[in-house]
Amino acid sequence: MKPVLCKLDEIPDGGAIEVDTPQALDPDAVDTLVLLRFGDQVRAYLNVCPHAGRPLNWAPGRFLLAHGQLVCAAHGAAFKPEDGSCIGGPCRGESLTSYAVEVVDGQVVLQI
Ligand code: FES
Repeated sequence: MKPVLCKLDEIPDGGAIEVDTPQALDPDAVDTLVLLRFGDQVRAYLNVCPHAGRPLNWAPGRFLLAHGQLVCAAHGAAFKPEDGSCIGGPCRGESLTSYAVEVVDGQVVLQI
């Protein structure tokens, strides 16, 4: 059975939330996932910045989303929310680690 990360309506449209990494993905995970919503679509990334390995959020569950960018709170690396690619700052062309998710019956399901 594929892991359910949350309900779709727990993510504000155009916003982001933080969820625990399911044990099925990584039993020893200490890092979390960031989920971003675009209407009925959701993108999932490991909440680790490729610049210096810090979490992207500035407080638990709180992410900087502005002007169509997801911005790392540590040093300002900017990522394209739709695909996690670096579009500015010190991430130097690296991308966030992405995971496939699907919305099934109003639930966000990890595709592993
Ligand atoms: S760790 Fe994210 S910009 Fe440095």
